[in-house]
Amino acid sequence: MKFGTKAIHSGLIDDPITGAIIPPIYQTSTYAQKAPGDHKGYEYSRTQNPTRTALEKNIAAIENAKHGLCFSSGMGAIDAVIKLLNPGDEVIANNDLYGGTYRLFANVFSKYGIKFHFVNMETLEVAASLVNDNTKVFWVETPSNPMMNITDISAVSMLAKKASALLVVDNTFASPYLQNPLDYGADIVLHSATKYLGGHSDVVMGAIAISNDELAEKVAYIQNSCGAIPSPHDCFLVQRGIKTLHLRMERHCENAKRIIDFLSNHQRIGNLYWPGLDSHPNHQVAKNQMRDFGGMISFTLKDATLEATSSVVSKTQVFTLAESLGGVESLIGHPATMTHASIPKEEREKVGVVDALIRLSVGVEDVEDLRNDLNQALS
Ligand SMILES: Cc1ncc(COP(=O)(O)O)c(C=O)c1O
Repeated sequence: MKFGTKAIHSGLIDDPITGAIIPPIYQTSTYAQKAPGDHKGYEYSRTQNPTRTALEKNIAAIENAKHGLCFSSGMGAIDAVIKLLNPGDEVIANNDLYGGTYRLFANVFSKYGIKFHFVNMETLEVAASLVNDNTKVFWVETPSNPMMNITDISAVSMLAKKASALLVVDNTFASPYLQNPLDYGADIVLHSATKYLGGHSDVVMGAIAISNDELAEKVAYIQNSCGAIPSPHDCFLVQRGIKTLHLRMERHCENAKRIIDFLSNHQRIGNLYWPGLDSHPNHQVAKNQMRDFGGMISFTLKDATLEATSSVVSKTQVFTLAESLGGVESLIGHPATMTHASIPKEEREKVGVVDALIRLSVGVEDVEDLRNDLNQALS
């Protein structure tokens, strides 16, 4: 099946009672057993719930994976993956991760003896030089949040395989419609489903897709043991969101291209970060591994004071000033004080997250309104 068909049909339940075409919200914590162990495949809703199973199958299908696993947030999913590791293990991650991922790695898991290296992965020399017997995971966000850096998934996958390490790709920015990392050699693909998968800014959730049975079993064990699972109602919302993922992504990409044209010609704009630009250092890699370039754009203002930047992000009326991304409505953000505030200033500035940086999540509204809104905010 092609993407749109899988997004709409995968994971559906053939409801034996009513024939309902949408999986019911099984708002139940437990399931009756005829005798101990004699049940219909469901025992307790932390372990499994039919509404969640339907969504997990759907996410596996659109990521070309065998298994899907859903969590109460993207951070819950990331937490579960790192719990595969032991003290002494090392992770090589790209150095411009979402601030919350950096915080979890640097401030929480480091305490438990896991070592994290944060490096630029646009080229892989530095990452390769850090590989040693303890290297167990390569962690890649591509496109990265918020600098839109692109990492060559196939190339890191080769490096990871040589090191007998796992490659995890956070695919939140691209969404499965634009990029399927498992097809390029990743072992685990991860999403903040809060973003494009849900698509309507009304739910917080995380998701993982894996093809290897043994690895999926290990993550499911952690999912059940640690318990960061989503509610059946949230699973219903995300499954509903995914049904229009292909339609929404097409419009996000189309609108982003028009906004890029506008920003490229505006005299107040300094640097523009978007993988679809010919000038992007890894534009060719993006072209190879992505189907289009997505709806996320970052840019700097030439008059680079915090006041000037703050004034622009506070003046938009169609773009809402808010954290998060990937919903139908356009959002504008100031990474230095919002999504990436948990990264020390010196660290974030090294990778380009300066005070003058603005991030747009271009929504699916009429693009003329988006352009006019940015124009008035920049004037
Ligand atoms: C790339 C990326 N990964 C993971 C997360 C964490 O996801 P959540 O907010 O659903 O916990 C985010 C959140 O913004 C993100 O942007």
